[in-house]
Amino acid sequence: MIQCKNITIGFGEETILENLSLTIPEGEITIIVGRSGCGKSVLMKTIEGLYMPREGSVYIDGADLTRLNRRKLLETRSNMAMLFQGSALLDSFNVYQNVALPLREHTTLSDAEIRAQVKEKLQLVGLDDVLEKLPSQLSGGMQKRVALARAIIRQPKYLIYDEPTTGLDPVMSDEIVDLILKLQQSNRLTSIIITHDFACIQRIQGRIVMLSDKQIIFDGPYQNFISATDPRIRKFNRH
Ligand SMILES: Nc1ncnc2c1ncn2[C@@H]1O[C@H](COP(=O)(O)OP(=O)(O)OP(=O)(O)O)[C@@H](O)[C@H]1O
Ligand SMILES: [Mg+2]
Repeated sequence: MIQCKNITIGFGEETILENLSLTIPEGEITIIVGRSGCGKSVLMKTIEGLYMPREGSVYIDGADLTRLNRRKLLETRSNMAMLFQGSALLDSFNVYQNVALPLREHTTLSDAEIRAQVKEKLQLVGLDDVLEKLPSQLSGGMQKRVALARAIIRQPKYLIYDEPTTGLDPVMSDEIVDLILKLQQSNRLTSIIITHDFACIQRIQGRIVMLSDKQIIFDGPYQNFISATDPRIRKFNRH
């Protein structure tokens, strides 16, 4: 479980999020929405331990991130994976090398073991026939799937998706959402999805958390979100 307790995050004079509390229970999908610049990525980076809150605490499975030493922090972070907005694949590495990278960097597994795991994950995302291709030779949707295989290669407990469907056509976007749901069911992942994409929100119908004005202004199920009367939510809903 992830718990943010009364966190305030800022840079210099600027406060981005103020006295915010949020609990993310295990095994569920939480969707984070809000206008560009409202602090969604900042919140996620704080949960990952990349930014330290000015005030308050972030607990990951009971451990306070703000009080962990470096070794413990790295250990806690190894339970978390992130699917970056731009996929962030290494251009000069082929698909196999990209997906294998976290295992090469963080484990002492043999080549044969790594190969087996990479193949298994690529199969899971429906891409086990493009091992030798470079990212530039793949479509945007395929790149996302490779990035997803890489994100889950170390079997994380928490997976954060930053705009997983943005920039994809509706068919590819649907495929990615299907995959997110499939991973959710088969691996019992705790998923956090940052998105602007209403089609994605509509299909997942998870719990929605909306940020605005440095706070959480909505936290609840999809059905309540679409019928909310707060003008800031209605403005968002119209899209
Ligand atoms: N490292 C940083 N140093 C200073 N300011 C930052 C830093 N990271 C983010 N900010 C500021 O924090 C605010 C929130 O940024 P953030 O990236 O979280 O927005 P966002 O909600 O993810 O937006 P988008 O939907 O466009 O990705 C912005 O005003 C941004 O300029
Ligand atoms: Mg962002």
